[in-house]
Amino acid sequence: MGRTFVVALGGSTLRPEAQEDRARWFGRLRQVVLSMEGEGRRLGLVVGGGAPAREGIALASTVLSDRSALDEVGIAATRLNATVLQQVLMDVGLDVAAEVPTSIDAAASLLDAHHVVVMGGTVPGHTTDAVAVELARAAGASTCIIATNVDRVYDADPRTNEDAQSFAEMTIDELAAITGIDEALAPGASSVVDPIAVGHAKRGAIDLVVLDGRDLSRLEAALEGKAFDGTLIRSNR
Ligand code: UTP
Repeated sequence: MGRTFVVALGGSTLRPEAQEDRARWFGRLRQVVLSMEGEGRRLGLVVGGGAPAREGIALASTVLSDRSALDEVGIAATRLNATVLQQVLMDVGLDVAAEVPTSIDAAASLLDAHHVVVMGGTVPGHTTDAVAVELARAAGASTCIIATNVDRVYDADPRTNEDAQSFAEMTIDELAAITGIDEALAPGASSVVDPIAVGHAKRGAIDLVVLDGRDLSRLEAALEGKAFDGTLIRSNR
């Protein structure tokens, strides 16, 4: 059996502004996944909630304040996006699990039987970054790729700090110093990597890759073990 790869795909990556860019992005993702399957590799795709999660959480927040209730709304949005991707990939005849699993155990067993498994969130209290790192560990993958809407990890927010420096490589402890570790984000809040995911990666000795998933050539390069534009975060092994 070939190697297993796990990718956290940010919800924002699958909704470029222009309609024609959306079709192009889906088409390119199909190519990347077809070539993975052709090489006998397995792929777990964990899809974020993006705009529907933000919209749903904002709507529910008008009357709800319970964190886990708002997280459930976010989870529903991640599963909506996961179903969109699952159907888009199945449509070209890829060996995609027909079920969108809702737990790590279910996802890991589906990955034994299929080349591709697409899922969203699992339980309240973390984001799909953390789900992806948990799946990487359960499926025996040594690296988890976080494909998001920033190009790299920076030492400060590059939108507000023009002196912010990006990292091509860093350690998990250096990442933890920037994001925090093991502290839950508020429902719908974002961080370059979810601090809960950072904790799982550190304990599970999983390397992380952060790259811009809107440009799928970067994801393809990282999956193929080639040089890629992004940040490699080495766990302490
Ligand atoms: P996301 O994983 O989409 O958060 O979960 P994100 O980091 O903002 O990702 P992007 O923007 O899509 O890249 C959205 C929300 O859903 C809930 C949380 O409230 C999270 O903020 N969620 C998601 C969970 O509670 N559990 C999960 O397993 C997944």
